[in-house]
Amino acid sequence: MFAIRRVLVPNAIKDVFARSKYTLPDLPYDYKALEPIISAEIMELHHSKHHATYVNNLNATEEKLQQAITKGDVNAQIALGSALKFNGGGHLNHSIFWCNLSPDGGNPSVPLLKQIDKDFGSLNTMKKRLSEMTVAIQGSGWGWLGYDQRDKALKIATCANQDPLQATTGLIPLFGIDVWEHAYYLQYKNVRPVYVEAIFDIINWKDVNTRFKNAE
Ligand SMILES: [Fe+2]
Repeated sequence: MFAIRRVLVPNAIKDVFARSKYTLPDLPYDYKALEPIISAEIMELHHSKHHATYVNNLNATEEKLQQAITKGDVNAQIALGSALKFNGGGHLNHSIFWCNLSPDGGNPSVPLLKQIDKDFGSLNTMKKRLSEMTVAIQGSGWGWLGYDQRDKALKIATCANQDPLQATTGLIPLFGIDVWEHAYYLQYKNVRPVYVEAIFDIINWKDVNTRFKNAE
C-alpha cells in the first residue's frame, strides 16, 4: 500500500510561477529599418507603446483570471474573456507582424509560390485580393494570408479589432497587415490603400516561407 503524500511547494517557488509574465519582444531590426515605407516614429510608438500596452494588459487580465480560478468564480472568469481575447490577440498579432516585415525579406519560396498559384492563380492576384479585403475592413483590424490545414489551402481572411486569426478562424497565420490607424496614420493619414500597397515592399518572405513550411 502506498501512502499518498502531498508535495509541498515552497512559497518562493509559488511566487515565481505567479510572476511568470509575458514580455514585449525586441524588434528584429532598428526602428528606422523599414523607412521610407514605415517611419521610425511610427515603429517606435507602435512597438514601445501600443504593443507594450497589450502585453501589460494581458498580464493584468491573466492575473485576474488566476484569482477567479482560485476562487472558483466562473462568472468572473467568463467576464474576463473579451479582455483576454483583445489583449492576448494584440500581443500575438503584433509578435507575428514584426517578424513578417523586413527591409531585406527575400522572395517567396518555390513551394509557397506553387501553393499561391494553385489557390489564387498568381502572386499578383493573391496580393490584389489581400489588399482589397484589408483596405475594406471597417474600423480597426487585420488582413491575413493564412493556411487552412484541413483543406490544405491558402486563404485570405480579415479579423476585427485584435481578434487573433488562429483562435477565431482556425487558419494558421502566415502574413498579417495591421490596419489600425496607429500603424499608419502619422505617415499616410487617412489613405489606408497607399499604406497597404506599400507594405508589400517590406514583406519578410523568409519569415512567411518558414511559417508556411511549419503550417503544412
Ligand atoms: Fe498595431
